[in-house]
Amino acid sequence: MSIDFKSVDGSELEPYVESLGLLRVQVFRQFPYLYDGDLDYEKKYLKTYIASPRSLVVLAMDTDKIVGASTCIPLEDESSEFQIPFLQAEMDLSKVCYFGESILLEGYRGQGVGHRFFDLREGHAKRVIPELEYTAFCAVDRPEDHPLRPKPYRSHDAFWDKRGYRKQPNMKAEYQWKDIDQESETKKQMTFWLRRF
Ligand SMILES: CC(C)(COP(=O)(O)OP(=O)(O)OC[C@H]1O[C@@H](n2cnc3c(N)ncnc32)[C@H](O)[C@@H]1OP(=O)(O)O)[C@@H](O)C(=O)NCCC(=O)NCCS
Repeated sequence: MSIDFKSVDGSELEPYVESLGLLRVQVFRQFPYLYDGDLDYEKKYLKTYIASPRSLVVLAMDTDKIVGASTCIPLEDESSEFQIPFLQAEMDLSKVCYFGESILLEGYRGQGVGHRFFDLREGHAKRVIPELEYTAFCAVDRPEDHPLRPKPYRSHDAFWDKRGYRKQPNMKAEYQWKDIDQESETKKQMTFWLRRF
């Protein structure tokens, strides 16, 4: 199965918003996100990327179909809710590139696409932020005994560690969304991971 990578910057993202939003909703239904998403929210979320000429979305394509995607944006161009943990840690926002997500349909996993997503985003981060100090992302914390945790479950922690990212137990944020097994939105604790350049 051959996958092509297409890099689009913010201004070029508009035609892909619908497919990308649908892909996010589909992949993030799985543990640990369990996100019961809706396309209207997705379209609003992606506006931040469209508005930033320095953002990047990498699309993984199987012929004409988008089967995966990965995003990044200079933290200065992100909305304030994503900036707060960095301000609290007294970091210089102008030297951080924030990685939004990596998503890939299940049938395409385990062939190195996840590594490629990191390579392409880190390369972009260095180009758009010449004084880059950190690339960063966050991941949701779920209890070990969460009823929807698959058994067995392999977390991405070892992969991220191998990529040079270190978990920052003191850098947390709270976001809220509706889980697939809940009636309404609930708060989720997110923990940040940083790689120093
Ligand atoms: C994250 C994701 C894009 C990685 O894609 P991928 O193409 O399978 O990744 P790769 O093939 O490059 O493998 C990356 C590493 O993960 C490991 N891995 C493989 N299968 C795995 C699994 N089921 N669970 C965890 N790690 C796995 C691989 O062994 C590899 O490590 P290695 O270099 O030591 O061999 C994909 O798993 C995904 O879409 N997950 C769901 C969404 C998600 O959780 N995204 C991350 C947070 S936004």
